[in-house]
Amino acid sequence: MPGISLRGLVKRYGQVGAVDGLDLEVAPGELVSLLGPSGCGKTTTLRLVAGFLSPDAGEIVVGERRLSAPGAVVPPERRRMAMIFQSYALWPHMTVAQNVGYGLRVRGGLGRAEREARVREVLARVQLAGYGSRYPGELSGGQQQRVAVARALVVEPEILLLDEPLSNLDANLREEMRFEIRRLHETFAITTLYVTHDQAEAMVISDRIAVLERGRVAQLGTAHDIFERPRTRFVAEFIGRTNLIDGIAESADTIVCGTVRLRVASGGLKPGQPAALSIRPHAMALTAVMAPGALAGDIRRASYLGDAVDYEVALEGSPIVLRITTPPSAPLGPGARVGVSIPPEACVPLAGSIQ
Ligand SMILES: Nc1ncnc2c1ncn2[C@@H]1O[C@H](COP(=O)(O)OP(=O)(O)OP(=O)(O)O)[C@@H](O)[C@H]1O
Ligand SMILES: [Mg+2]
Repeated sequence: MPGISLRGLVKRYGQVGAVDGLDLEVAPGELVSLLGPSGCGKTTTLRLVAGFLSPDAGEIVVGERRLSAPGAVVPPERRRMAMIFQSYALWPHMTVAQNVGYGLRVRGGLGRAEREARVREVLARVQLAGYGSRYPGELSGGQQQRVAVARALVVEPEILLLDEPLSNLDANLREEMRFEIRRLHETFAITTLYVTHDQAEAMVISDRIAVLERGRVAQLGTAHDIFERPRTRFVAEFIGRTNLIDGIAESADTIVCGTVRLRVASGGLKPGQPAALSIRPHAMALTAVMAPGALAGDIRRASYLGDAVDYEVALEGSPIVLRITTPPSAPLGPGARVGVSIPPEACVPLAGSIQ
């Protein structure tokens, strides 16, 4: 099972760098999601890897094979990859078994009985045993999605490429299919690039997530890394909700904003320089006004959400207004005076703030 290396990859459309110096290493057997907003270059990256597009600069190496470089592109059919599209692209006039078996027929080399056995086996693996003689129109959305997966797997690709394969499904089924895709990945362990703009989907499915911003990787890491330690403002805001605080570093581990001082556990701030922090709403707590170490604030808005309460709290002595999420016990109303406890571990310095 080979890994994938994308090195300095560039693809321009006119002046626009759809992919603009993208570096990414996917380990053998790993599933990496490309996550980012519309237009950030996810599909273009996938099409470069599949060989449908030729890069303007950079290279794509899979295992020991250099598959793409400007002017030297191995065609898609010689890449040992399979791609699953958003629309599934199943042939409506072919049965499930014919759809799945098509790639084997085109490739040749197997007799009919062998082909049929392989198709039956892979249909069973995606839990569609017995569905071979149905037509795609006679299946649910989730079943069609699994036929598309079976059709990709039957040719035993080294690399699997998926472009928003769940976006056609309704919300409930989409959630179920996330686990299904993860289970399939654990069964087959094929090196996979998975494109999505849905952060929850990426978090459930991936070994690691590459957050893309304007054609580059802004950050690569596990869901936990990216959520807890976002490196830039863009990543912090794109993954979950957060509070962004701007201030001036007073020392290596303190920033000030008005009269408010915030401690940063990781340290490394550049004293005297502007610094920015990300603080997740659930990483803070409301306390009694006079609690030791707490900052004083006033509740501006309180929204009861059933499993949590979402507060907007203005900190005294600064322009900072924080969103704080707490467990739902005894919600406080607007106007209440509170203490806010902000543990230093909750304060994550963003790019440019640290040496
Ligand atoms: N064939 C093309 N000709 C010109 N511009 C293109 C072409 N394909 C993509 N682009 C541009 O390149 C950029 C990246 O497009 P891409 O399709 O890779 O985005 P994406 O991240 O997949 O977005 P989405 O989430 O909307 O699918 C966009 O600005 C897009 O308009
Ligand atoms: Mg796309």
